[in-house]
Amino acid sequence: MLELKDLVFSVNIKDEKNNDQKIDIIKGINFKFEKGKFYAITGPNGSGKTTLAKLIMGINRQTGGNIFFEDKDITELSITERAKLGISYSFQHPARFKGITFRDLLAISSQTDDEEKLLSIVRRMGICPLSFLDKPVDATLSGGEIKKIELATTIARNPKLAIYDEPDTGIDLWTIMPMVTLLKKEQKDKDTTTIVVSHNKSFFEVADTILILNGGNIVYKGNLEKALPILADFRICNFRPCKKGEKDARCYR
Ligand SMILES: Nc1ncnc2c1ncn2[C@@H]1O[C@H](COP(=O)(O)OP(=O)(O)O)[C@@H](O)[C@H]1O
Ligand SMILES: [Mg+2]
Repeated sequence: MLELKDLVFSVNIKDEKNNDQKIDIIKGINFKFEKGKFYAITGPNGSGKTTLAKLIMGINRQTGGNIFFEDKDITELSITERAKLGISYSFQHPARFKGITFRDLLAISSQTDDEEKLLSIVRRMGICPLSFLDKPVDATLSGGEIKKIELATTIARNPKLAIYDEPDTGIDLWTIMPMVTLLKKEQKDKDTTTIVVSHNKSFFEVADTILILNGGNIVYKGNLEKALPILADFRICNFRPCKKGEKDARCYR
């Protein structure tokens, strides 16, 4: 239902001599996401997960390759056009809006202001108390609260393809498992193709396929069992114990 073909995202940055330097953040990714499946994307910080998620939503514009959604080439479509086709994205760092309440956001996403319908989404999310609906979505919200609101607005849109970027970051212990169950239930009940970017094993356990990103490439696609040894092998910066007498910046004693 979603196909990435030779997808590349490069940026130009200034090096220390103020010369332009091109860096490839996503390096030619090819992958087909199947309808109604649950995908977990993981990988070290800076490996390109958020960049990839934003490329699918159209927030980042690719510098090479193509994206197909339900066999239609959406490479040049705007965020709004992609949203109309049924793609929804839940930000890793959601925006806050002064003067807007959770109720307003939910009403925009679900296109209804019917009290019972809004409350049913809040209950489905396990958000309590129900008075949370009238909370302002401003700087006073905690990190976990804003993530719950972001998730609720994505779910309220009933997307065909839902992308959640680290939905569990900052979420309390009592909400993580219900959140995993909720996203799995949405996928099963509504055939929602679901992509969750996360470091949390609970999401890996309910995923049909795990993708591991490293350095802008997919370095693994498959089940959890075979992913585990790869995940255990990501040594930070490749630091390793020094051999006898060795002097190398990457080794330690
Ligand atoms: N527009 C940009 N300009 C320069 N560097 C960027 C840009 N977008 C992302 N990056 C860099 O690309 C790398 C991957 O970022 P990101 O996709 O956010 O990683 P993560 O896997 O942690 O979500 C990071 O090193 C980030 O700083
Ligand atoms: Mg990220």
